[in-house]
Amino acid sequence: FRFSSIHQRPRCDRAERAALRSPDIEPRRTGNESLPASRLHSSSMSEVNTVCIVGVAGFIGSHLLEKVIRERDWHVIGIDMVPPTKIQQLIGAEKKWASRFEFHQMNIVEESAKLNDLIAKSDTVVNLAAICNPSEYIKQPVNTINSNFTDAQDCINFCVKHNKHLIHFSTCEVYGRTLSSYGLDKDDPKNYLLDEETTPMIMGPVSAQRWCYACAKQLVERLVYAHGTENNLKFTIVRPYNWIGPRMDYIPGVDGKDDGQPRVLASFMTALMKGDPLVLVNGGEVFRTFCFVEDAVDAVVRMIEYPEKSCGHAFNVGNPDNNIQISKLAELMINMYSNITGKSKGSTVSISGEQYYGKGYEDSDLRIPSMKLVKQQLDWEPTTSLETAMESTMRVFIEKYADKLANITADATEPASKKAKA
Ligand code: NAD
Ligand code: UGA
Repeated sequence: FRFSSIHQRPRCDRAERAALRSPDIEPRRTGNESLPASRLHSSSMSEVNTVCIVGVAGFIGSHLLEKVIRERDWHVIGIDMVPPTKIQQLIGAEKKWASRFEFHQMNIVEESAKLNDLIAKSDTVVNLAAICNPSEYIKQPVNTINSNFTDAQDCINFCVKHNKHLIHFSTCEVYGRTLSSYGLDKDDPKNYLLDEETTPMIMGPVSAQRWCYACAKQLVERLVYAHGTENNLKFTIVRPYNWIGPRMDYIPGVDGKDDGQPRVLASFMTALMKGDPLVLVNGGEVFRTFCFVEDAVDAVVRMIEYPEKSCGHAFNVGNPDNNIQISKLAELMINMYSNITGKSKGSTVSISGEQYYGKGYEDSDLRIPSMKLVKQQLDWEPTTSLETAMESTMRVFIEKYADKLANITADATEPASKKAKA
């Protein structure tokens, strides 16, 4: 691990590369290692040397870094404006990849010249940086649009300028609501299955501010695509479908604002660990397909490794087998939490979207990805069931947070007289 003052990174020679492939000091098999190159067309495998991950200290960034650094011999330039807490387990002089990883804590908006230099030194740039929490879309729509559209400009322009492969993170929200939610035949797959090449993108009115995020993501996708056409930008667009796993978001009051509203996984975990009812927005009637992040980052590694297969495409990356209504997800998590901890089962409470998020909240009804393109181009398929993904994720959350939350709860309920003595 090197902090931002390091500019020179040694390249690996052949012997070092071979040694890197041997088990590292913390062997760890995820079960989601990439398929052998022979499953893809080996002629398309590129000689990747340096990958720049922007937003490396976030949820997806931390898992992508973990996979890349453990399973490949590439150099990684990690950039994020927050401290590297979520990637701390990968940092340290004793790690065998220490000389291949450098972290730069910087805001890409404020350090444009430095971003330019770091992109110039890379082969592939993965841009994950964005505001992507629905509670922010209504609280700070201007920042949401700027973060997702305006702030992505430098990464795009520097990749054009230096002829680098840009892997830009968009979202499945670009499809908006399904055609079937507007009254078309619910049983006809073309009215609900989201396909990269054929499905129209349908968002609510401008006053429904929830869509400002999806709309900014759609515009940035179109800009990236336009640079591909006009300026030969090598690009790949990723549309994740509710990737879940350890390190997703934060727990309010522990490592996030007291009044924060993380995405549904961390919201439900907070309620379970505090013994509060799980909040079902609008009764939890909508559906999501959840994809285990360890499966998902394997698709991203293939995009990096096989640019001839990934360039010029926007890919759905999700797990259509893990489709569940949010109210049923709450039920599943309540039962699983009780089984894991032996505690009694939690409850739910319903609240309107407007009350929970504010005026202008509208929701996607159903998000089932077509997997045709990602399977055809990258031979990628998710393998982890919702139950397996959820159980391993919940265990990590419980191990990390349960005691901290119990202390906070105990402290809050302690009588004032006792607190004063202490
Ligand atoms: P995250 O919030 O955990 O990570 C984003 C990271 O980007 C954060 O660490 C943040 O500090 C960093 N960042 C933001 N602005 C920055 C700036 N100006 N300079 C430097 N760093 C900055 O989010 P995530 O879940 O890991 O999502 C990553 C990307 O994937 C986002 O673009 C998001 O829209 C997209 N996405 C994620 C999901 C999902 O399932 N998690 C679904 C759809 C889309
Ligand atoms: C999110 C964000 O927009 C992006 O991070 C990303 O583009 C997208 O997910 C994705 O992962 O694909 P959304 O799925 O609506 O969108 O975000 P969540 O906060 O995880 O909510 C999922 C559903 O659960 C929504 O219907 C929401 O209203 C509901 N919810 C959320 C609850 O019922 N209770 C809660 O406490 C939190």
